[in-house]
Amino acid sequence: MTAEIWNAVDTYFEDSLIGPDDVLAGALARSREAGLPDIQVAGNQGKLLSMLARIHRAERILEIGTLAGYSTIWLARALPPSGSLVTLELDLRHAAVARLNLETAGVAGQVEIRVGRAVDTLAAMVAAGEAPFDFVFIDADKPNNPAYLDYAVKLSRPGALIVVDNVVRNGAVVDPRSTDSGVIGVRAMMERIAADPRLDATAIQTVGGKGYDGFALIRVSE
Ligand code: SAH
Ligand code: DHB
Ligand code: MG
Repeated sequence: MTAEIWNAVDTYFEDSLIGPDDVLAGALARSREAGLPDIQVAGNQGKLLSMLARIHRAERILEIGTLAGYSTIWLARALPPSGSLVTLELDLRHAAVARLNLETAGVAGQVEIRVGRAVDTLAAMVAAGEAPFDFVFIDADKPNNPAYLDYAVKLSRPGALIVVDNVVRNGAVVDPRSTDSGVIGVRAMMERIAADPRLDATAIQTVGGKGYDGFALIRVSE
């Protein structure tokens, strides 16, 4: 099996189940034109995030890692009119592109982009007594995943769902001797999940337009 067939199947599912979407296509084009990296979730993965948030009836969503706002748009579309989303981004240029994309998508009124190092923003949110979130999507710098998990749990309501992107990285996650800081971060996060009696979790491997990777799904107990 090769990336070629994985891509063809992703395209087939997106064509048959999702269909053309000028807003999302425009967001990707704007991201590319601005020179941002092509590392957003795939279309069928964005739809999965959106469906998870919808099934969960999420009203307050936290995202860590905005980039151009592609996954943000998918998640914001799952919100009811009264719902809101806070997304955290380090890079001012990424945040500026995301702001335009969110405006074009008609979801800017429900989304707040907070710029800065996510660990600092999250610490400030905890200190300020930020209202809890129903759904958290962790997708920023992988070495900080253990800290992001801790903050996500602190900022979650009982029963919240936390989704983490990029937990497989071509299978690199299985190497306990890896010197890759991202792999070390993902593995340390997995250990914390396993050691925390409040958390129930699974992870799945994915192939497709984004190569061989995967998601972890974590539920905070009620
Ligand atoms: N969720 C996006 C992709 C995010 S890519 C999507 O699927 O559409 C990861 C993003 O995390 C990048 O924009 C990067 O600038 C941001 N990032 C990296 N380190 C960060 C940090 N320390 N704090 C906040 N954001 C960070
Ligand atoms: C990278 C980050 C991501 O969030 C992703 O989905 C793919 C790649 C990266 O930093 O290389
Ligand atoms: Mg990612």
